[in-house]
Amino acid sequence: MSRIFAFAVGTARSSTAGTPLDFYFPAPVINPDPDLAALIEGSFSSGVHQVAPGSLDRFAEAVGDPAMADVMRRLAAADRAMTAVRLDADEPIDSPAAAYLKLHLLSHRLALPNTLNLDGVFAHLPNVAWTDAGPIDPAELPAAQLKARLDGGHIEVLAVDKFPRMTNYVIPSGVRIADASRIRLGAYLGDGTTVMHEGQINFNAGALGPNMVEGRISQGVILGEHSDLGGSASTMGTLSGGGEITISIGKHCLIGANAGTGIPLGDRCTIEAGLYITAGTPVTLIDETGEDVRTMKARELAGGSDLLFIRNGRTGRIECRSNRKAIELNDQLHAHN
Ligand SMILES: CC(C)(COP(=O)(O)OP(=O)(O)OC[C@H]1O[C@@H](n2cnc3c(N)ncnc32)[C@H](O)[C@@H]1OP(=O)(O)O)[C@@H](O)C(=O)NCCC(=O)NCCS
Repeated sequence: MSRIFAFAVGTARSSTAGTPLDFYFPAPVINPDPDLAALIEGSFSSGVHQVAPGSLDRFAEAVGDPAMADVMRRLAAADRAMTAVRLDADEPIDSPAAAYLKLHLLSHRLALPNTLNLDGVFAHLPNVAWTDAGPIDPAELPAAQLKARLDGGHIEVLAVDKFPRMTNYVIPSGVRIADASRIRLGAYLGDGTTVMHEGQINFNAGALGPNMVEGRISQGVILGEHSDLGGSASTMGTLSGGGEITISIGKHCLIGANAGTGIPLGDRCTIEAGLYITAGTPVTLIDETGEDVRTMKARELAGGSDLLFIRNGRTGRIECRSNRKAIELNDQLHAHN
């Protein structure tokens, strides 16, 4: 039984004072097969290490996977030290390098959201000014800005955040992303996912693909295949002041523009544009003949399939009935080539 849970080699950047700022791991692995695990065990000890690039040559020659061998060969030819991370179990995060490795695993589609132990991710990710001159420690930013101004230029600060944008580390195949700043490293974008300008995907959250994402996918939320998150729609997260139920949305659902959900939904559900369902929202269930069945809190419908939620424009009450029109996503809209 292999002792290796995850492994990566890549580049690290640090502040002038030596604080780690970010790590780039181009070929991370999770649960390696026995041969690769044995090779990793024989070449790297557990934890985070600086490795001389030359020492990666032997590893590149021995590794079976051609893509990984190619990455290793390129790293071995570099003239800078590399960082290797070997995690023997999926334990709480205890270093910035381990945090970056787990975020890479998610965005490389090697792990689904909510399947990794991310405890400690906030504590171990440094806050960074992400600029067009690279990552800068916010404490060192004023001096860097002054220097740039004195040289006649300026530094464009794109974000000040613990999480960088995903696309500077990995671009999963078969996706379209209208505004790269709205997707954090650690987001999971399945094949065939389109994220429009209003779409946003947090770390440890994502869309299994194919999907149209024009709204916000909060931390922990997963959007199932062929579901559509309408313009500015919202999925309720659990990080700050949200409920404790992790939201997931099944297949072939449509969350209308400006709508939102605080309950998980099964397959083929629709929420009318502009309607926000929270766990405590009173919802009147309507049967096939249009008669009221009963009124309940929305949380009782959590996880249900084939549900259509509307706010009745005549009475103002929120109603749920059988969803007759499961959406078919427009093929042309979702083409990625
Ligand atoms: C909820 C929604 C799917 C209903 O669509 P629809 O096409 O009106 O649905 P139906 O045709 O099944 O409506 C059945 C009946 O309910 C009525 N109805 C629909 N919404 C209603 C409401 N909020 N209050 C009262 N009656 C309503 C319809 O007018 C229709 O009445 P009719 O049978 O007398 O003609 C639609 O309003 C919606 O919000 N779609 C989301 C689209 C969207 O935001 N996409 C993302 C873009 S970014």
